[in-house]
Amino acid sequence: MINFEIKNLKEYHENYSESVENPEVFWATIAKENFTWKRPWTQVLDWDFSIPNVSWFKGAQLNITENCIDRHLIINGNKTAILFEPNNPNDPSEAISYKELHKRVNQFANVLKSKGIQKGDRVCIYLPMIPELAISVLACARIGAIHSVVFAGFSASALSTRINDCDCKMVITSDGGFRGAKTINLKSIVDSALMDCNGIESVLVAKRIHSDITMVRGRDFWLEPLLEKASDECEATVMDAEDPLFILYTSGSTGQPKGMVHTTAGYMVYAAYTFKNIFQYQPKDVYWCTADIGWITGHSYIVYGPLLNGATTLMFEGVPSYPDYGRFWSIVEKHKVSQFYTAPTAIRALAKEGLDAVTPYDLSSLKILGTVGEPINEEAWHWYNDHIGKNKCPIVDTWWQTETGGIMISPIPNSFEGKPAFATLPFMGIQPALMDENGNEIKGNSVEGRLCIKFPWPSMARTIWGNHQRYKETYFSAYDQKYFTGDGALRDENGHYRITGRVDDVIIVSGHNLGTAPIEDAINEHPNVAESAIVGYPHAIKGSALYGFVTLKNSHDLTDTLKTEINELISKQIGPIAKLDKIQFTSGLPKTRSGKIMRRILRKIASQDTSNLGDISTLLNPEVVDTIMKNSF
Ligand code: WT7
Repeated sequence: MINFEIKNLKEYHENYSESVENPEVFWATIAKENFTWKRPWTQVLDWDFSIPNVSWFKGAQLNITENCIDRHLIINGNKTAILFEPNNPNDPSEAISYKELHKRVNQFANVLKSKGIQKGDRVCIYLPMIPELAISVLACARIGAIHSVVFAGFSASALSTRINDCDCKMVITSDGGFRGAKTINLKSIVDSALMDCNGIESVLVAKRIHSDITMVRGRDFWLEPLLEKASDECEATVMDAEDPLFILYTSGSTGQPKGMVHTTAGYMVYAAYTFKNIFQYQPKDVYWCTADIGWITGHSYIVYGPLLNGATTLMFEGVPSYPDYGRFWSIVEKHKVSQFYTAPTAIRALAKEGLDAVTPYDLSSLKILGTVGEPINEEAWHWYNDHIGKNKCPIVDTWWQTETGGIMISPIPNSFEGKPAFATLPFMGIQPALMDENGNEIKGNSVEGRLCIKFPWPSMARTIWGNHQRYKETYFSAYDQKYFTGDGALRDENGHYRITGRVDDVIIVSGHNLGTAPIEDAINEHPNVAESAIVGYPHAIKGSALYGFVTLKNSHDLTDTLKTEINELISKQIGPIAKLDKIQFTSGLPKTRSGKIMRRILRKIASQDTSNLGDISTLLNPEVVDTIMKNSF
């Protein structure tokens, strides 16, 4: 299997140079040696960022599930592929071997076919973190259906938007899900979402919480009886390298969420290769990523990356605080987890609970720790390093995005040291550039700018579903011939990168990427709201929290319930993750003469950093700034 280990900084630099000097040779060698192809490629890379067009391994044919499952059967058939740890610690965990996974994916794929799903059809998956989620993802890939997983914390309205945007034919869901002490009735959320969706022909329902639900005759089907009847043999559909594998929605600074399209071969090669080298997976290791499969982290580093490497990947249904704050560590002890990958917000929340929740557990199985989703502050990094890694586990602070498909900047354990708050050095083949405000690349070290990538890498998203123009405008128009990430970064004296955060109107709350526009749209639906502006401000646990400035049509109606109503609207339109932490009613919002809300000023007020507001004299209504400041929290 993929075995490319970098032992020291010198080897890193040698390999990195090779990967950027001869990218086609570099990636072709990895692709050839480590995967099963049905037909080889005729061209490794074809690209033009001005269209933009990128294709990798053109002409090749394959099926990713044969690489994730079938090829491991001979030697590793009895090895655990997915280790499921349920929400309730008293329920048994479930070990699904590669052999069993093969059967279950094939049965599921046959059920999809029996409901008329064909290659290229879109299937929406709205499931909690239960094995059926990973299995349904793989079942789609088995027959070439394009999966669009929607995080099960999203509301009915957010779900219907995503179903309609890519014309899904089917939804896969469950009666409900367990999350800590709560149960969530997913099927009823699907039912209300589907009132706005005309294209859905069938809904498959897994049984998880055994609740009473309504089944629509002819549309809704219980999954279990269909699976029981289905054959466990299903030939893998032959896919072209650039056939879409999945769509995954991510927020933008404006407008509707963007359906990022990832294709088959390049995604496979990059997800597998980064997994192996960044987490240094060894055959007997148990790897655990705590993300939800509803996010890209779960796609690449719970499902595809680990399975492509024949790894044992742990899937946890619950939350870190249930039944108490020791749950993560009890799972590490129980399953002897070797690699543990989580988000800074989880680390901060657990650190806050103190060491009593950590010390009872034996964490000696841990070898490598990872973080992802937002910058990790030094304090959280040190707590993780001292108390979880016991100063013996390298920490990989991995910077990447839904759009990049795989980890882009990260330490490589045992080859060079991580540094608190630094994602450090680019991975093989990744060519970062820092840009100044005039569109010029800032060369050299000890500099700061906007982070771009200059050259294609295999797992980059190829387009936005149904809107290639928006893909071009969002990622390839700010800087000529470069992919713009939306992040700011600095490069220190040693060439190590520190991500400083978003430079657009995307706010990362508890590691979740939230666009301000859809939240403002939700608030503005309230009959008494005239206008609103959302900004982020620093929060000890969440990283950033949401502060809403809201003007009312009729301020006499200012009641205590108004704030609750606003948050309920947000919950309904997007989901509870987007609720505001603070709401300030104000008589006006600071605007430029062209009518644009000056978020920069609001951001400073929300962050209580008002010593230098910059020049406000050019505002249309400078007087409003004082009023807002006086009434802010
Ligand atoms: C944005 C992408 C990639 C999986 C999870 C998030 C921020 C991500 C880091 C990190 C600093 C980070 C960036 C990025 N981000 N990882 N290690 N250090 N910032 O995926 O929802 O597409 O969000 O998350 O701002 O642009 P996403």
